[in-house]
Amino acid sequence: MSEPRSAQGQRTLPGEYFTSEEIFRREQERIFARRWLCAGHVSELAAPGSYLLFELGTESVILLRDRGGGLRALHNVCRHRGSRLCLEPAGELGGAIRCPYHAWTYELDGTLRAAPNMAEVAGFERTDHALFAASLTDWEGLLFVHLGAEPEAFERELPVLAGRFERWRIGELVRVHRTAYEVEANWKLLFHNYSECYHCPTVHPHLNRLTPYRNTSNDLDEGGVLGGPMWMTHADGSMTMGGERCAPLLPGLGDGDRGHVRYYTVFPSMFLSLHPDYVLVHRARPLSPTRTRIVCDWLFHPEAVAAPGFDPAPAIEFWDLTNRQDWELCANAQKGVSSRAYRPGPYADLESQLAAFDREYLRALDVEGPVRPTAG
Ligand code: FES
Ligand SMILES: [Fe+2]
Repeated sequence: MSEPRSAQGQRTLPGEYFTSEEIFRREQERIFARRWLCAGHVSELAAPGSYLLFELGTESVILLRDRGGGLRALHNVCRHRGSRLCLEPAGELGGAIRCPYHAWTYELDGTLRAAPNMAEVAGFERTDHALFAASLTDWEGLLFVHLGAEPEAFERELPVLAGRFERWRIGELVRVHRTAYEVEANWKLLFHNYSECYHCPTVHPHLNRLTPYRNTSNDLDEGGVLGGPMWMTHADGSMTMGGERCAPLLPGLGDGDRGHVRYYTVFPSMFLSLHPDYVLVHRARPLSPTRTRIVCDWLFHPEAVAAPGFDPAPAIEFWDLTNRQDWELCANAQKGVSSRAYRPGPYADLESQLAAFDREYLRALDVEGPVRPTAG
């Protein structure tokens, strides 16, 4: 295992990156409208007609399973006068999408099936008014949408993901629990927080007991996917309240995966935490410069879930506790970076991944030149 890479003397971002409405708008245009964003897990769309909404700022996309069993993403904007079609975050469409305003009704492939009283309108053609499709990719069972018109292929944007985590067979897993949080902090502070364990000894004693903070290595340290493994003091354990696995080793894993947890950020929307017995997915969505919604899903293998006595509570409790501790840190950091007394500070070498995240972020935001030097 290699030592963590140096942070190369890099400093934290200036305060405006965490507070400015202007930078937030630029992020929406240059990052969130131009990147693949994780929207959910395939197990959430089990049957034809099931759907979930992906929402970001002014955008809303319906992800659904159509009659043929295929996955689709359709903009949640009626072709009549633009109303939202689906209002609940997830549900069943019952064979068609019906606008709540004037009852235009769409097939699950987006084509317009019926538009009351429109037949008499000169020149109106049903076929001209299908819902607009959004781009959708299924990567290992995790569904990514792209809000842009001509997205780069997922494999080209994130080439390091190709085949890399296949053995976790994430697409076969099922969600057993979800907790959603709203954090009073800029989304980048959540990425920063996830990307280091420098804070673990003081803030997460329950976690640091299982994976002491220096038991870490980065196997991806530049680009859109950053992270690497941590190894546990218990050679066959997992990240749970008692440190024991709460399910058998996932079926595709080998002995080398025992006692390891792997943590990755996928820019700009997801954290992926790969455990020996389950997978944890965090999806972050900026709500404002100072507020972020983050949804955390616990995914297990269906055979483990069906086994008598299955109890995911030790894994759920472990990460819910850790999450809440982390969100409090992020909210405190947000207050500090919003102060006129804040100046960029030096990253520790244990924070090399944060420095790498900032480089990727600034490249994506298209800021010219190196990270700005400290303001004072
Ligand atoms: S806005 Fe949808 S039917 Fe009128
Ligand atoms: Fe933490």
